[in-house]
Amino acid sequence: MSAKPVIYLKDYAPPSYLIETIDLKFELEETQTHVFSTLRVKRNPDAVVSTELELHGHESLQLRSIKLNGQPLESSAYHRETESLLISDLPDAFELEIETEINPKENTALEGLYLSDGMYCTQCEAEGFRRITFYPDRPDVMATFTTTLVADQKAYPILLSNGNPVEKGVLDDGRHWVKWQDPFLKPAYLFALVAGDLACLEDHFTTQSGRKVTLQIFAESKDLEKLDHAMTALKNSMRWDEQVYGREYDLDIYMIVAVDFFNMGAMENKGLNIFNTSCVLAHPRTTTDMGFQRVESVVAHEYFHNWSGNRVTCRDWFQLSLKEGFTVFRDQCFSADMHSAVVQRVDEVGILRTAQFAEDAGPMAHPVRPASFIEISNFYTLTVYEKGAAVVRMLHTLLGPETFRKGSDLYFERHDGQAVTTDDFVQAMADVSGRDLTQFKRWYSQAGTPRLTVTDRYDAAAQRYELTVKQSCPATPESKQKQPFHMPISVGLLRADGTSFVLAEGGTSMLLELTDAEQTFIFEKIDEQPLPSLLRNFSAPVKLSYPYTDEQLAFLLSHDEDGFNRWDAGQQLALRLINQLIDDYQQQKDLALPEHFLATWRLLIKEAPQDPAMAALLMTLPSEAYISELAEQIDPIAIHQVRQFIKRELASKLANLWLELYQQHDTDVAYSAEPKEMARRSLRNLCLGYLMAVDNPAHLALAEQQFETADNMTDQFAALVNLAHSEFNDSAHTALDSFLTQWQHESLVMNQWLMVQATDPKPGALMRVMQLLDHPVYDPRNPNKIRSVIGAFCNQNAVNFHAEDGSGYRFLADHILKLDAQNPQIAARLLTPLTRWKRYTPNRQAMMQAQLQRIMDSGKLSGDVYEVVSKSL
Ligand code: TRP
Ligand code: ZN
Repeated sequence: MSAKPVIYLKDYAPPSYLIETIDLKFELEETQTHVFSTLRVKRNPDAVVSTELELHGHESLQLRSIKLNGQPLESSAYHRETESLLISDLPDAFELEIETEINPKENTALEGLYLSDGMYCTQCEAEGFRRITFYPDRPDVMATFTTTLVADQKAYPILLSNGNPVEKGVLDDGRHWVKWQDPFLKPAYLFALVAGDLACLEDHFTTQSGRKVTLQIFAESKDLEKLDHAMTALKNSMRWDEQVYGREYDLDIYMIVAVDFFNMGAMENKGLNIFNTSCVLAHPRTTTDMGFQRVESVVAHEYFHNWSGNRVTCRDWFQLSLKEGFTVFRDQCFSADMHSAVVQRVDEVGILRTAQFAEDAGPMAHPVRPASFIEISNFYTLTVYEKGAAVVRMLHTLLGPETFRKGSDLYFERHDGQAVTTDDFVQAMADVSGRDLTQFKRWYSQAGTPRLTVTDRYDAAAQRYELTVKQSCPATPESKQKQPFHMPISVGLLRADGTSFVLAEGGTSMLLELTDAEQTFIFEKIDEQPLPSLLRNFSAPVKLSYPYTDEQLAFLLSHDEDGFNRWDAGQQLALRLINQLIDDYQQQKDLALPEHFLATWRLLIKEAPQDPAMAALLMTLPSEAYISELAEQIDPIAIHQVRQFIKRELASKLANLWLELYQQHDTDVAYSAEPKEMARRSLRNLCLGYLMAVDNPAHLALAEQQFETADNMTDQFAALVNLAHSEFNDSAHTALDSFLTQWQHESLVMNQWLMVQATDPKPGALMRVMQLLDHPVYDPRNPNKIRSVIGAFCNQNAVNFHAEDGSGYRFLADHILKLDAQNPQIAARLLTPLTRWKRYTPNRQAMMQAQLQRIMDSGKLSGDVYEVVSKSL
């Protein structure tokens, strides 16, 4: 059915040939760019079987000429297959010269060399370099690169590539050239070039050893004022990596370029990161606080890759989490250090528990180190990134920070300049700790979310407390039977007065190491019946259950010293109510909010001013996505209605308290991006959300006033969302129109404007979404626009996407079929909500499946979409 074969980890073999150096010259022309590549090749002494030389090359490459040691190669000496060029009968060492022609303008897949708004840029991870020239496009082939760019000087004054600029010149036909040299070995996926008319913000950083590094961030000149935040984030990241990991930057220059057309968030190309504008541009007037934090964390993430990814890279793409899991863990710790650690932890666990757990429960479930794939682009997943980070975090927890640091030092030192595996990473941790991590490695090979069932027993006479933990893991596509995992479970025991028992080593938290299917842990000298606080700070990526009473959860919510578990207790309490009301709703009973729930919230509101950031978290109801993930069978309408009911009840019964809290957190002080101010805004906008959940003209006026007078996007946008989504606002369009008029020239703000409308839960959203696709600010080729409209509608507007008539499913399938020919990576990613069909009510299952089948039957599909659809049906 698919043209592309399944690739297996077990079939890995080292390459037959190695590339020592690659010398590239690009003559950049929009429709016919010429790429001249000179390779110094030698036979790989470590190759198991020595076969022909395999150069990958996409079918779109036009081979212009090929020479071996200066002599044209006869056409009988090589043959071309769809994805490669094979050359046999080669000497042990030789030089190969290849000229290819490519068409950047027609490149809508945004892999390889393409044009983004008239600027040339590249995206080579994972397998984009084969769309540029013939080359062994696999990460275990590492070479030093020299790159010369030739282009029209007026249109493309800035010419960038990896490493350092070493030579430049002007030609007499109006073109100019720059030659770049990257002294570090790298695989082809880290290659990059940029050519365009760009403005630049420049700064400097002095490393811990005293070297001065030039920092440059490039963007279109209109966006120059939006680069300060990314620059600050970059300098903070560089400092943090020196302090926490002892890692110093290694080139004289570090460049970031912002591009508007980009399939993902950003890319860590050596010395020349390329960023989606959405992950680098930030300005208080146009960017929300959430946007600011995203920029900071993505800048950090790509910077940290310089060591975890570039200096030490992956042997093959099955090892992707080697760099991604570790780097996400690093950027999470960085963000925790820059802001509130609890807020950061709640945010990251939220992603893991909703989206990654859902992935683990779906047809695309795979281990952190997958065993097979058809299209590697489909494996840039929450499992590889977020669960991969959780696995590294568990190593950090099990070994402790000092030993973990010794392990990372050993890993970087031992493997600098190499392409290695997740086993090599764990081995470094095993070597420094003297521990056997064999069982721990099951986290890399077994998919699925483990379930822990905890029970306890207290013996007052013996002053002994016992916790019994049972673990199991549901079957996933790659394996039915799972072996027990090795995991750290951080626990505390609370006394009736709310304080925690002092446990082993004098601390109030203790680490239990679970290794067996069932295990009992004993605590001695426990002189009163304790209440356990389990899995503190979410010490393992699992689903845990313990038979708490509502009162016990409320007790943890007010007393647990672990901020994460306080929050989680509140979520569990709310979830119990939600699930009960969903039952009532489905049985068409009247819904009612119990008095004790209101009492809890009164208390939360009263205490909110003490810690606004925490309060905003505690008073946010579990998301529809999280409720869905936990549901046995998802009924999106019931979930939405019940959640809205609770919100409305809390809003109307506590209206004066919300208003008071809202006004208390108003300010005359000008905007600042300080964490304290961000927390204030988030609490105040949470209040606005509750105020707007009831039909009250005074509240509407408040939102309108905030919308008109806000001096920053966080407040203006929060007001807009509330005005646009309100059931009680007849003039939602007024706010939307005025926002459009104000910001129509700001592309990123327009993404937000599109998104508010796409996520509007009111009836008729699909019609409006379809109209948006014809709006002048929409661009069907720009992934950010596609995500803002189609992605947002299908992923964040459950009531409308899952409409009973199947219109949402048909809409998505229509667009996937259109998109697949244009941009397979984006098409495959958009498919996700349809792949979850088994989780929904029977009528929905049938309609979702029918749309998947329709895509399958449509004929020619990309490997990307084929893999996702075939695994889902
Ligand atoms: N390595 C990039 C990151 O996580 C991911 C990435 C950027 C990517 N662009 C891509 C992956 C295109 C696949 C395709 O930081
Ligand atoms: Zn990454």
